[in-house]
Amino acid sequence: MKILFYDTKKYDQVSFEHERKDFPGIEIDFLETDLNRKTAKLAAGYEAVCAFVNSRIGEDTVNILADCGAELLLMRSAGFNNVDLAAAERRNITVLRVPGYSPEAVAEHAMALTLAVCRRLHKSYIKVRENNFSLVGLTGMNLCGKTAGIIGTGKIGAAMCRICRGFGMKVMAYDCYENPELDFVEYRDFEQVLEESDLISLHCPLTDDNYHMINRDTIAKMKDQVILINTSRGALIDTEDLIAGIQARKFFGVGLDVYEEEGKNVFENREDVILENCVVGRLLSFPNVIVTSHQGFLTREALTAISRTTLQNAADFQKHCIREENRVSNQL
Ligand code: NAI
Repeated sequence: MKILFYDTKKYDQVSFEHERKDFPGIEIDFLETDLNRKTAKLAAGYEAVCAFVNSRIGEDTVNILADCGAELLLMRSAGFNNVDLAAAERRNITVLRVPGYSPEAVAEHAMALTLAVCRRLHKSYIKVRENNFSLVGLTGMNLCGKTAGIIGTGKIGAAMCRICRGFGMKVMAYDCYENPELDFVEYRDFEQVLEESDLISLHCPLTDDNYHMINRDTIAKMKDQVILINTSRGALIDTEDLIAGIQARKFFGVGLDVYEEEGKNVFENREDVILENCVVGRLLSFPNVIVTSHQGFLTREALTAISRTTLQNAADFQKHCIREENRVSNQL
């Protein structure tokens, strides 16, 4: 099988080349360009294409891929809200993903953001580099004894629950389905979790139902001086309402690995670009906000798992024996 690999970063190529040794029937050509309407035609002659979470794979792109003969879209990510699945279904393109490559990688990043905003590490790092050893503005807050509210207790949320328990926190959660492995977690309805938590961490996928689930009304229900962390998807939070909440001194800290409008920035070096009217600039103007670049997944262990599962998905597709949890569309 020949796979055309879009939006290649150095770390992708290193880990895929390394794991490919165990999959002799698979060839990969790496492209730096992202998959979109203009670049989809490069897939002519390839049975499969591989894309990542920030590509916009709408109907036009899917149609061009199908016209080029591609039968398989390998998402090297857990999320797939960027793919028009109905269009893929119509055009007989199977979409496979990597459902749980390393939940701990993302959960540990969520806790890293929590600790960073909680102890103002982002400010302290810069101050000390400038020989400013003043402690003003660095007062933190203990996590031990506080309540963590975890929204979504699938693989990543469950890992975050365990980490929060390790910090001596009471762990509360909201999910449509209770995770039976989490016997130390108190499940509550969404409003109650908002009202009682000192730390709220989002770990549910973005769906049509929960778009902007964190908005003016839900922010108003939160405790004053809450910490809000989002490593899930930007559009779970209404950014304008978040900014209004930050300005109203609602939050002790906000840590975002994902944010609305991140598309153009994610994984790109834009240091020479003047970012006009961008939300990230406004968010970064606040001393209690940290933004990272959708890097929750980026650990060595996760990259190895992503490469192996993606290559295994390709091999299984050839043999028509796909694991159900990896399947996002149902073509076989
Ligand atoms: P999962 O599928 O194991 O768990 C998601 C959980 O959310 C499920 O238990 C589901 O019942 C629950 N859920 C669905 N809708 C909900 C709602 N409206 N309210 C509360 N709970 C709801 O997914 P996993 O692997 O834990 O990933 C979660 C999300 O993390 C992904 O969808 C993706 O958006 C994000 N992610 C972020 C990464 C990063 O680098 N920052 C990397 C990987 C995933």
